Amino acid sequence: MKKLNFLFVLLLSYSIYAQKFEGLALTPPMGWNSWNTFEANIQEDLIKQVADIIVSSGMKDAGYEYVVIDDGWEALTRDSVGNLVPDPKKFPNGMKALADYIHSKGLKFGIHNCAGKTTCNGFPGGMGHEFQDARLYASWGVDYLKYDWCDHGTADARQTYTIMRDALYAAKRPIVYSLCEWGNSKPWEWAKDVGHLWRTTGDITDCYNCQGEYDLGMRFILKLQEGLEKYAGPDHWNDPDMLEVGNPGLMLTESRSHFSLWCMLAAPLMAGNDLRTMTPEILKILTNSDAIAIDQDKLGKQAYLYMDHLSKLIYVKELSDGNWAICWHNTGDQSYTQRINWKHFGFLKGDYEIKDIWKNQVIGTTTKNLEVNIDSRDILFLKLTPRK
Ligand code: GAL
Repeated sequence: MKKLNFLFVLLLSYSIYAQKFEGLALTPPMGWNSWNTFEANIQEDLIKQVADIIVSSGMKDAGYEYVVIDDGWEALTRDSVGNLVPDPKKFPNGMKALADYIHSKGLKFGIHNCAGKTTCNGFPGGMGHEFQDARLYASWGVDYLKYDWCDHGTADARQTYTIMRDALYAAKRPIVYSLCEWGNSKPWEWAKDVGHLWRTTGDITDCYNCQGEYDLGMRFILKLQEGLEKYAGPDHWNDPDMLEVGNPGLMLTESRSHFSLWCMLAAPLMAGNDLRTMTPEILKILTNSDAIAIDQDKLGKQAYLYMDHLSKLIYVKELSDGNWAICWHNTGDQSYTQRINWKHFGFLKGDYEIKDIWKNQVIGTTTKNLEVNIDSRDILFLKLTPRK
């Protein structure tokens, strides 16, 4: 009997600590991350400037919240007691001061490290130091941890990421936990109780249709999301990687499509462009309130691919309060005229008012068929609201 009691207490205490912080990402996290533009060339002044611009440009009001510094912030070795050290040249005032600055702007602070022994750029990783690192992050005021997967040896992803989950929980500071395991071991099947979001693919790069050794253009990343919609929901999101909106390799139409599709996918919206040189057109895309509301819809449903026909992709996203978002993406090199007969969309019940998200206007109702021209690699992005 005593033995049973002991086991019960042991199990109970384990289950108290063995959990993620619940409720930190009821809608997909939004923010900015340094990697897509700056790679490891980051430093304190740049990050502060970015935080300033997020506020002054209206991005904060639009919902962007986390300022995340990716790989490249660390010194090459830990200190004598094993703590991680920020590179003193890049971050002369340390991470607590930077976090305080970001917090003073009403924003949140995110940081990158790696579940393996070293990061992909050769800086100290977290393996074997998880509880110590989690305490350090908590003491700095970190709100978001992106945890990478380089140099993991033969480690099991689920086990390894779970150690950091427990370490974060034990450190007692609510920190959004973003798994960056590239989809290798299908984290969508096991990570719901481990993290708040998980990458589903290798790295995105700023092109529509190209492929590098490790990275993929947005068209390929999009393709790899098919069928994953059933795994996403409030507090546990598929992450098709950060935004390339506004980066040099994408045309404006491609940036608009990329943003629309990521909103349809209920993807985390982590801007990855140089905010200091952002054009008004790109700011307009990144801050479109209807598009963002679709991404952030409280139902938390990821769009599914409704039709894939020649150069036409149709995605459908169910929204709260009986609304729907539907988009038609032209993946081809020619523009075409799209005819839409609403009767073919069997999930619609009754009549709806149609809002064109990029025109920012109501364009009619579903009582009439629609005919719209869609340019190459552009998108028709509509929100349908039931008519009373
Ligand atoms: C990759 C990750 C990228 C970026 C990079 C930093 O593994 O997918 O998003 O974090 O590491 O080295």
